[in-house]
Amino acid sequence: MTSRRAFNAKLQNRRAFLQAAGATAAAALAGNLPFAALAQTGAKMKIGTLGSGRVGSAIGGAWVKAGHEVMFSSLDLEADRKLAASLGGGARAGTPREAAAFGSVLLVSVPYAALPGIGRDLGDLIKGKIIIDTSNPIVGRDGEMAVAAREKGAGIASMEFLPGTRIVRAFNAIGAARMGQAAGASERVGMPIAGDDPDAIKVASALVRDVGYEPVLVGTLAAMGKYLIPGTPLAGERSPDEVRKVAATLK
Ligand SMILES: NC(=O)c1ccc[n+]([C@@H]2O[C@H](COP(=O)([O-])OP(=O)(O)OC[C@H]3O[C@@H](n4cnc5c(N)ncnc54)[C@H](OP(=O)(O)O)[C@@H]3O)[C@@H](O)[C@H]2O)c1
Repeated sequence: MTSRRAFNAKLQNRRAFLQAAGATAAAALAGNLPFAALAQTGAKMKIGTLGSGRVGSAIGGAWVKAGHEVMFSSLDLEADRKLAASLGGGARAGTPREAAAFGSVLLVSVPYAALPGIGRDLGDLIKGKIIIDTSNPIVGRDGEMAVAAREKGAGIASMEFLPGTRIVRAFNAIGAARMGQAAGASERVGMPIAGDDPDAIKVASALVRDVGYEPVLVGTLAAMGKYLIPGTPLAGERSPDEVRKVAATLK
């Protein structure tokens, strides 16, 4: 091959590489990449929060700092606009419908009694999406429906309220005030998570790490979801190894 031909071939290869890289980046930003690919490449994700209270704002804020695009939503759009403006970067605000459409991953962090309504009103938008579910059935706040949810287990109850979604329960039994501080901690706290869908677990694990915790998959929603609420042996903060040891005693 003459040196000019070799040069042209190199140029073509480089153009093809840049086109492919550009397409991959665009697809990732558009939320079109397969979920497992998103988790493996460490790509920036589009995340919608349903609920932007103590937990939603702390975790969503940590994801904004980690470089993700986050749309915050609640029942108060003005408050969400202020929250997004205070965070800057990739933070924005929207209605719950807009946030559900925006995110390839959704953080559902609402009083448990709001879950049936979210499943009904946003069912068309959330089907097939990865949901990180921090919501806990608390009888004093959520009433009778929380009694039933605790009896069957929060993992099963959340699946019933949000059918067709790919739920991972996480962040259920540590204080919201600590969630925004974990990223700077010298030793990683273990975060017990439960889920059924392998891709959802991969993506949720990457996002748990981005907040500063080490995810520990303790089991399926049906088997272990019931332990991911406050007041169980898995509640509170402990090292990843300790989380594994405690989880083993529950199986
Ligand atoms: N606080 C903690 O330390 C902690 C820790 C782990 C897990 N959790 C659990 O995580 C969930 C959230 O807790 P939190 O402390 O963040 O509660 P919170 O401060 O009361 O915030 C709840 C958020 O949900 C929003 N919301 C209510 N109904 C909604 C709906 N239908 N659609 C969209 N957003 C809705 C609220 O909006 P408005 O403000 O506009 O009403 C608010 O932004 C709860 O289930 C809680 O048990 C809490």
